[in-house]
Parts: sequence; structure tokens; C-alpha cells
Amino acid sequence: MSLKNIRLEVMQAIEPKVKGFMDSFLVPIEEIWQPSDFLPDSQSDKFFTETEQIREEAKELGYDFWVTLVADTITEEALPTYESWLMDVEGIDQHNGKENGWSKWVRAWTAEENRHGDVLNKYLYLSGRVNMREIEITTQHLIADGFDIGTDRDPYKNFVYTTFQELATNISHKRVGKMAKQKGNAVLGKMCNIIAGDEMRHHLAYREFVKTILGQDPSGMVNAFADMMKKKIVMPAHFLRESGDSIGAAFELFSNCAQRLGVYTAQDYIEILKKLNDYWEVGNLRGLSDQAEKARDYLMKLPDRLQRISERMQFGQDQYKFKWVEANGTL
Ligand SMILES: [Fe+2]
Ligand SMILES: [Fe+2]
Repeated sequence: MSLKNIRLEVMQAIEPKVKGFMDSFLVPIEEIWQPSDFLPDSQSDKFFTETEQIREEAKELGYDFWVTLVADTITEEALPTYESWLMDVEGIDQHNGKENGWSKWVRAWTAEENRHGDVLNKYLYLSGRVNMREIEITTQHLIADGFDIGTDRDPYKNFVYTTFQELATNISHKRVGKMAKQKGNAVLGKMCNIIAGDEMRHHLAYREFVKTILGQDPSGMVNAFADMMKKKIVMPAHFLRESGDSIGAAFELFSNCAQRLGVYTAQDYIEILKKLNDYWEVGNLRGLSDQAEKARDYLMKLPDRLQRISERMQFGQDQYKFKWVEANGTL
């Protein structure tokens, strides 16, 4: 049987469990937080004083912080790219005439994710610290440019990617929230924390999808995991650009900013890999094909290898001036 057919069979075999995954890892729409819960109510008389407070508090936050928050927001705002990509994955069939659990999952996950860009965008708008028009142009570019995360339409590779990325976003939102709180920005701190909580639930779900697939097709799954790590897990915003720029030109500059700030670093990448190896018990996988045994051994050695490389790695220290954030002396 071809690899594609095996994957389709495995996806179909797991599909009846997806409803249970949704119950465990997603929150019903009418119970979950909404962006309005964290923002000044524009119908209230207190709107202007609360907004004034946000603007005052925002003055405490520095340049790298704003760049990172803007790029995090834009990454969240490019959700149409992620939903359309996932809907196209083998086995996630929205057209087969009967209800497919996988496509329901993607829609429900998208609905939860959609609140992240929404709340952050509104916050940025109220903060008075950023150039919204430039941000909007970048967001539009990013959606138009799409992305290529090297997963093709393979569900195994896509679930490795999403497991990894959900944890990466959990880490970065959590750290941004902590910094905001330390500088007295309580509202922003709460916002980032609640988003980080969503990312964690999503991470746990995708991690479970992979674990379940490992039970059905361990060789195929471990090969896909190793393949993704060989290519490296690229960031969803790797095509980031500012107005007038070429595709991807702003990504490294932003990434340097996030590293400098300690919001998401090469060390985090290694720690995530270690966690995945542990949870999926990669080292204990037995009864694998020859190729999958090599993939398993590669994955087990990879954290140490990356550690050695990262110790030699340098990243840019120069503060680049982005069009999204005006330099105003607050560093
Ligand atoms: Fe998100
Ligand atoms: Fe997410």
C-alpha cells in the first residue's frame, strides 16, 4: 500500500475519536473567553478612562517588546493561511458528504484561534504605540504570501508541526505576558496569559493526535517526525515583510528581536524537541522498519547535536527600525 493510502486509513481509523479530543481539548464557544472580556467596553462611560490607562501603561514598554508583540499579532492574524492549509491535509475531508471529525476539529480550532489576533489587534490599536496601517499592510502581505512549512498534505508531518508550534506560541505569549505584567501592564499581561493557555490546550491535543498515530503506524509516524526535524520547524510567519519589502525580509529581523528579548530562543526549540521525544517515548519505540529505527536514533541524538550548534550560534544585536513601531526613545 502506498504511504498516502496508509495515512488515509490511519486517519479514518482515528476519526471516531476526534469528537472525544474536541471535548477534552477545546472549550465550548459560549463558555470560553472572548476578546471583549479583556478590552475596555466601548458602550460604557468608562471606555475613555480605561483606554487612557492602557495608553499610559503602554509607555513603560520598550522598542523590542513592541516589535515582538506586533509580529506575534500578525502571526495570529494570518489564521486564514493556517486554516486553509490544514483543511487541505490528507484525511481532513470537508467534502465527503458525511460529517468528518477531522474537518470539524479544524473549524473549531480555527474558531478558538481567531480570538487571538482579534484581541491583540484591538489592544495594539488602543495602545497608541504602533503604526496600525503598516501592521495591516504586513498582515495582508503575509496572508497573500501564504507559507510553506514543508509538510505537504501529509497529516503526520502536519501534526508534528502543529504540536511543535502550539508549544512555541505558548512559550512566547507567556513570556510577553510576564514582561507586560512586570512593567505594570495588567490588562496586556492577562490577555497574553489567556492566549498562552489556549495554545497549551491546542498543543496537548495535537500531541495526542501524534501519540494515537504512533499506536497505529509507529514507523510511518517516526519517519515523518524525523523528516520534519531534518528540515527544521520553520515559523509560520517566515514570509514576513514590511511595506515595500521583498518576501520574508522582515522575519529574521523580528526573530533577532525575540531572541534578544528572550521571548523565543534557540534553546526553547531544543527544549520543545526534548519534550516531544519524551512524551512520544521515541527512545522506546520497537518493532520499527530499518528506516524508522534510523529515524528514532536520529531524533534521540538530535537535542545534544542542536545544543552544540546553538552554543556557537550568533544572532543580530543591532536594533533595526521597523515601520510598525515608531522609535520614541523608550528602549
Ligand atoms: Fe494562537
Ligand atoms: Fe495556536
